[in-house]
Amino acid sequence: MEIKVSGGSLQTSRADTVIVNLFEGVDAPSGATAVLDQALGEAIQELIANGDLHGKLGEVGVLYPRGAIAAKRVLVTGLGPAEKLDLETVRRAAAHAIKKARELGANNVATVVHGAEAGNLKPEEAAQAVGDGSQLALYKFKAPGKKFVPPNEIESLTLVEADAKKLAEIESGARISAAVCPAVYLARDLVSLPPNVATPSLLAQTAEEIARTYGMKITVGDREWAAERKMGAFLAVAQAAHQPPRFIVMEHNAGRSELDTIVLVGKGITFDSGGISLKPSEKMEDMKSDMAGAAVVLSTMRVVGMLNLPLHVVAIAPCTENVPGGGGYHPADVLTASNGKTIEIISTDAEGRLILADALVYAQQFKPKAVVDLATLTGACVIALGEWVSAGLFTTDDSLRDKLLASGTRMHERLWPMPLWDDYYKKIVSIVADMANTGGRYGGVGSSAIFLKEFTDYPWAHLDIAGMALITKKIETPYTPWGATGYGVRLLVDFLRNW
Ligand code: BES
Ligand code: MN
Ligand code: ZN
Repeated sequence: MEIKVSGGSLQTSRADTVIVNLFEGVDAPSGATAVLDQALGEAIQELIANGDLHGKLGEVGVLYPRGAIAAKRVLVTGLGPAEKLDLETVRRAAAHAIKKARELGANNVATVVHGAEAGNLKPEEAAQAVGDGSQLALYKFKAPGKKFVPPNEIESLTLVEADAKKLAEIESGARISAAVCPAVYLARDLVSLPPNVATPSLLAQTAEEIARTYGMKITVGDREWAAERKMGAFLAVAQAAHQPPRFIVMEHNAGRSELDTIVLVGKGITFDSGGISLKPSEKMEDMKSDMAGAAVVLSTMRVVGMLNLPLHVVAIAPCTENVPGGGGYHPADVLTASNGKTIEIISTDAEGRLILADALVYAQQFKPKAVVDLATLTGACVIALGEWVSAGLFTTDDSLRDKLLASGTRMHERLWPMPLWDDYYKKIVSIVADMANTGGRYGGVGSSAIFLKEFTDYPWAHLDIAGMALITKKIETPYTPWGATGYGVRLLVDFLRNW
């Protein structure tokens, strides 16, 4: 679906379907909806008066103008109460409307920018929200080998704005949305693909394609490359893997030393069986999503390239599967990470922090202004914050925390601050090594974060996205259908744009 912007009015739009909105509990619509209502001989007011339309979020009224305007149908999407309007409401209202339009066989749709008029939202942000809610709602995974029944494909969505002063901002928001949403699709696809397809090699190929398209520098390290760099923690996890591991490093604006350097790190465990510390088989299939961090970071790089952001952005994705095997690493093994620190393995299922350890050390050479890692790291984080509610945020830097929280709120890819107190070190003491790789059940999310901190020497934030990568049918939301969510792409793009 192509996203366009146009000045002028909906009455003269050549779209077959136009979308307006309605606040809950009002007798008469306002703004663009009121103008359209007049053109329709107050048909919308009549529906409200008869109790057929309420403006509730999720409600989409359908009207047939029968020649009164150019379009053949009008959809009125509910915005809920005016005082509760925010960007997330806009996304959801847009999502409900576009799904209705698709169901009715629309080809070309025109919409008002919900919230840019009556709500106090910034036109650029409201436009991105309409674009994001609409495009993300229509996502459907095309499973390789499975017959795909394509839903009716909407060709274009035009954001229509009568106020010429707002047009430039709306164009900018639409352009950002058009760049970001295909990348969210990519992240969802990579996570949905089965682990025998979405291997470390496939992730590396994906990174290479992105790097080629946008002229980025790329390095794909194999076992030998990692051994030369003494990445003992990453290599231990990969030891039993038959799929060759890949350590991916991509750089946008490589060598531009005048630009600020931001490093994004993503956990890329393409399947987490637990290794010798084998996981229970129930729901083990969900562990194909253990590479969501890597998928999000690679997808974000595509947007970074497309928007050509004025930053030196480095993406690091250590990728391997975690499987048991005769040659695998064991509990009680002691490994040496690339910074010389030794680690006693208590559980081979605490593998994410091991591959991240070498990735975080690798990031040090870039002298970054900030490093943000995303990892489906602990079940404990899901216990603490819930599924599809919020990721956990751990950081050593207050301004980084503020920036990430602001982006998380704006994009409704929420983060919640969690403590990085030194007390958690006590949990990972070891007699035989500098630290142990687990700290027991209590405070498991804190001890995982304090472990990672040992490998950083820069402003750093760790996002534990374990509860956010996959969602069930029960908790799907209007623009995040059941399955892989792509959580993190919109957050990171917003964070980088506002750096
Ligand atoms: N990938 C898992 C964490 C996870 C759990 C992600 C649930 C998504 C949903 C991670 O590698 C893991 O196994 N963590 C262990 C750590 C423990 C052994 C200290 C966990 O959380 O149980
Ligand atoms: Mn694990
Ligand atoms: Zn894992």
